[in-house]
Amino acid sequence: NVLILDFGSQYTQLIARRVRELNIYCEIHPYHNIPESLDPFKAVILSGSPFSVRGEDAPHPDLSQIRGKKPLLAVCYGAQYLAHFSGGSVEPSNIREYGRAKLSMIKAGEVFFKDIPENTNVWMSHSDTIAELPKNGVRLASTVDVLNAAYRIEGEETYAIQFHPEVYHTTHGKQLLENFLVNIAEVPQTWTPAAFVDTTVATLKEQIGDGKVVLGLSGGVDSTVAAILLNKAIGGNLYCIFVNNGLLRKNEFESVLHQYKDMGLNVKGVDASERFLEALRNESDPERKRKAIGNAFIEVFDDEAHQLTGVDWLGQGTIYPDVIESVSVNGPSVTIKSHHNVGGLPDFMKLKVVEPLRMLFKDEVRRVGKEMGIDAELLGRHPFPGPGLAIRILGDITAEKVRILQEVDAIFINGLKKWDLYDQVWQAGAILLPVNSVGVMGDERTYEKVVALRAVQSTDGMTADWVNLPYEFLQEVSNHIINRVKGVNRVVYDISSKPPATIEWE
Ligand code: XMP
Repeated sequence: NVLILDFGSQYTQLIARRVRELNIYCEIHPYHNIPESLDPFKAVILSGSPFSVRGEDAPHPDLSQIRGKKPLLAVCYGAQYLAHFSGGSVEPSNIREYGRAKLSMIKAGEVFFKDIPENTNVWMSHSDTIAELPKNGVRLASTVDVLNAAYRIEGEETYAIQFHPEVYHTTHGKQLLENFLVNIAEVPQTWTPAAFVDTTVATLKEQIGDGKVVLGLSGGVDSTVAAILLNKAIGGNLYCIFVNNGLLRKNEFESVLHQYKDMGLNVKGVDASERFLEALRNESDPERKRKAIGNAFIEVFDDEAHQLTGVDWLGQGTIYPDVIESVSVNGPSVTIKSHHNVGGLPDFMKLKVVEPLRMLFKDEVRRVGKEMGIDAELLGRHPFPGPGLAIRILGDITAEKVRILQEVDAIFINGLKKWDLYDQVWQAGAILLPVNSVGVMGDERTYEKVVALRAVQSTDGMTADWVNLPYEFLQEVSNHIINRVKGVNRVVYDISSKPPATIEWE
């Protein structure tokens, strides 16, 4: 187990992912909330930060319980703070160093740089520089502009680097992390999907005992993997509810429900399409649509949960990025979870919560799913928003508009699969625009709907680029849509990136 102390860098989660790629478990904790006992941790990593060590509000935690007592790797701001904390000095550099650099000098014979050649590329992002190493500091590497690009402290397993090993542009970043964690700190590489499944199932059995769990399935990867883990642990005491809000993809409800049953899940499909349509009637504002859908879901789920007796737990597919307490750049952030109004909550929300995936990143959820034999097609699914097609039908929602968009979307998605493009795209879908356009079909003038197609590349949905789909593909899909979907006479392709656009249109 490795502790990552977060100073607020945008790359902290990336450090954690790289560490876990080495099959080593790690946890991110904010610098102002260091775990009381460090016994479970075999090594500590200090992250980067947008702060300057010399700034007034800069994070200055007490490292005396860590330095010299645990193997320590300090990255970027961490390296500067370690120097500052240990009697070295940090000064503003004349130029802001941002981007690629080469390690022009690497000290020979250091395990830390094992299998890493001189002139390897590293990624720099800092405006201060370490002018003086701490007492007993040994310089390990330099670039042309940065004299102290890496150092260690003699007599300790304490290492520091000014560059970022976690970003892709640092060619030997993963090797460096491996050298530190495996060769120096001797952390065992036992964090594998199989080990996770074994320990999680055992823990869930212990935690839940004979209790009953209710869980809402969405058809997405997270809720499915959470359900299969719970099913392994408690079998028939897991009650799954899969709600059709009428805003899913074409045939999705039936086919996914079928898949769930094939996986041995105890699942009840609830078709509440009418109820959702009713809740959305005449609603065109995007946020109010989301609220209406959220409320309708809670009502439907609560009705269903009430029909079960003796349920103690609510299962959820929450994953690690939603759990990590973030470090705010404007000072330590405090997450307040207030359930002041417990009396007013639906009954199922008063249940104890069990979240088997709360320490996993998305790619790990997929690996765990694969380990448990979940169908590759289900695991490789594009993300799909909770409010579904409601936020892809701009303006108000009617059953007819849903039908049109389901047809269009199905042609687009099936086309992507047929052309082997589906797995190269992070997310794709169609949007029904609230305008009519003039067209001709045969001798007749038409005045019908316009649809937009959207396909993006992304890693986490925070930023996204539109995908350069082949013209021949777009041509085929456009022809199919206009010829087969009654009510649509024009297709456009969205070529906006996020930012400044967003992935969805609403
Ligand atoms: P945007 O449009 O903000 O979308 O660039 C980023 C990602 O979030 C999804 N999304 C949602 N997911 N409920 C959800 O569960 C929502 O209200 C919602 N809005 C956007 C979107 O599909 C994309 O993956």
